[in-house]
Amino acid sequence: MKHLLKLGGLSRDEILHILDVADEYKRLHKQGVDPKDLQGKAVALLFAKHSTRTRTSLEVGIYQMGGLGTYLSANDLQTARGEPVQDTARVLGRYYDAIVCRTYKQTDLDALAQYSGVPVVSGMTDYAHPLQVLTDLMTVREYKGKLEGLRMGFIGDGYNMANSLIVGCLAVGMQVTMACPKGYRPAADVLMQAKAYGDAFRLVHDPDEAARDADVLFTDVWVSMGMERETERRYRDFTGFTLDADRMALAKPDCMVQHPLPARRGEEIATDVFEKHANEIFDEAENRLHVEKAVLAILLAGK
Ligand code: CP
Repeated sequence: MKHLLKLGGLSRDEILHILDVADEYKRLHKQGVDPKDLQGKAVALLFAKHSTRTRTSLEVGIYQMGGLGTYLSANDLQTARGEPVQDTARVLGRYYDAIVCRTYKQTDLDALAQYSGVPVVSGMTDYAHPLQVLTDLMTVREYKGKLEGLRMGFIGDGYNMANSLIVGCLAVGMQVTMACPKGYRPAADVLMQAKAYGDAFRLVHDPDEAARDADVLFTDVWVSMGMERETERRYRDFTGFTLDADRMALAKPDCMVQHPLPARRGEEIATDVFEKHANEIFDEAENRLHVEKAVLAILLAGK
């Protein structure tokens, strides 16, 4: 693994290795031990969009590993005045050992990786959210003790989370049912990749089908960052896609719920469902820290 720009291209074993390393960092952290595997390393944290979890967990995780994380808002850089991403990449690559970037377009992230000369990690784009989905897999494995054979359902927008969930969950042997409203399909190339898994993948328009017999249910906001102008249309199109108690009743009795946060209660998830599954959801948020440490350690410290 030279970069983490998306989950496509990672093998089952590579994904499981990341989860194993993350489990070990978590186990040690709970014992009060934080290995200094990034001693002397500097990581640029470049954000063109808002973030609570990704930014703070990276800053804390890199600190715990003995490295330096520098938060850089894209608005404060010369990128905001038109400096090309290729030039920003070549400059940051001369100062930093790695770059984590949250930006709008996957093509900008790819350019950063192409020109920087150092490992680049996606902090989320319009196409993928790989750190989040690795975290989800870690959390599901913690709760269920396995991943292979589990039935996952996703109810919502076929956007970046859906793309990464399809790729990541299928790679580790899960059965995937995505329920997206008409017109909100996942990316075409992701659907092509999913075809290789045959019956393990289903794309449907009825959210009840995604919920039925699920071991884990995922949802995400209906209006992602940058889509605010579509809010009215999206509320109309996503009506009936709320993960509520009636829908949870279709799933297995021990079905868990994952949400990347922030959550809009009463929209994609009902308040009572959110609160009933809050431990799972906030364990998921906590695990961002451990997964990010694992990814950086694999890229920079040969873990
Ligand atoms: N889940 C997630 O990426 O959270 P933030 O947008 O707060 O970073």
